[in-house]
Amino acid sequence: MKGYKVAIVGATGLVGQEFIKILEERSFPMLSICPLASDRSAGKKLFINHREVEVKETVSESFEGIDIALFSAGAETSRHFSPIAAQAGATVIDNSSAFRGHSDVPLIVPEVNPEDIKWHKGIIANPNCSTIQMVVALYPLHKVNLIKRIVVGTYQAVSGTGSAAIGELTTQAKQVLEGQSTIPHVYPHQIAFNVLPEIDVFLDNGYTKEEWKLVEETRKIMHADDIAISATCVRVPVFTGHSEAIHIEFSRPMSPDEARRILAQAPGVKLLDDPTISLYPQPWSAAGCDEVFVGRIRRDASHSNGLTMWVVSDNLRKGAALNAVQIAEEMTKRGWIHPGG
Ligand code: A2P
Repeated sequence: MKGYKVAIVGATGLVGQEFIKILEERSFPMLSICPLASDRSAGKKLFINHREVEVKETVSESFEGIDIALFSAGAETSRHFSPIAAQAGATVIDNSSAFRGHSDVPLIVPEVNPEDIKWHKGIIANPNCSTIQMVVALYPLHKVNLIKRIVVGTYQAVSGTGSAAIGELTTQAKQVLEGQSTIPHVYPHQIAFNVLPEIDVFLDNGYTKEEWKLVEETRKIMHADDIAISATCVRVPVFTGHSEAIHIEFSRPMSPDEARRILAQAPGVKLLDDPTISLYPQPWSAAGCDEVFVGRIRRDASHSNGLTMWVVSDNLRKGAALNAVQIAEEMTKRGWIHPGG
């Protein structure tokens, strides 16, 4: 059987589990799959394609003979093992922030810049979750009417932080409802029944690193260095599904109807936009889905060339694992990667 030898680094994590689920769901042509994690998980058993597979510790030798290595085990692990995997001949698709800004590493959203995959040198970066859903929704509009400025506020689910954050929200929610006090471990403050305008570290310019990722990654993916972008990224007590309120300034006016017509045809986008029946995207219903949902499209009352919209997607799927698998699919479809080399 023709197929690829795939390694998953971070296979026991939230995104790692999603990698496996999506590879199975989409019948990705795999000859073998090797789940890798830290030494803490070595020996654990996972069921993949109805077969029990043992998790191995990630070591330098893990990548011998591997065709595709999907990484989601944090930036430090990626910085260490991705070059080793690439050197061993694997094509690395890395979900961490480690290489996204590197000029020799393409940053890919298949609906936007699949051609950039061609110039990879062994490592391809998967963008930040909030960037992916934003560019999937905005790029089709940008192609018709150049975007000059974006102001975005995000409402990001705790699963973006990893499994420990899911546990923290669950525990704290119970504690609050039972009248007990909470002690934050994952976040600087209580996340249950609260919102935190702090995602990743603060930078000298007053923005957080997450906010700055949205700026730099959007420009790199859309090949639009001069788009002005300002973001405020907020963690909210939602398990899965990131939401974004996006205010766009175009070069020329664009009516909400024109935007709807364009987005109705756009790859990966699903319109949910009928205020008369309270139809708009919500994280609760977007969780587990593949699409980027767009709604609440309206004129920006503060600018004649402005539109405002609400964009929601599953941060573990399109925002992470699905996008990475789609990059691998794009490569196989276009003949840019071959089993065994
Ligand atoms: P482990 O489960 O053995 O700790 P999440 O983002 O959901 O917290 O998951 C993080 C993933 O990254 C897990 O699979 C975790 O494995 C993996 N991981 C963490 N540190 C390392 C490391 N040093 N080497 C390989 N995998 C790691």
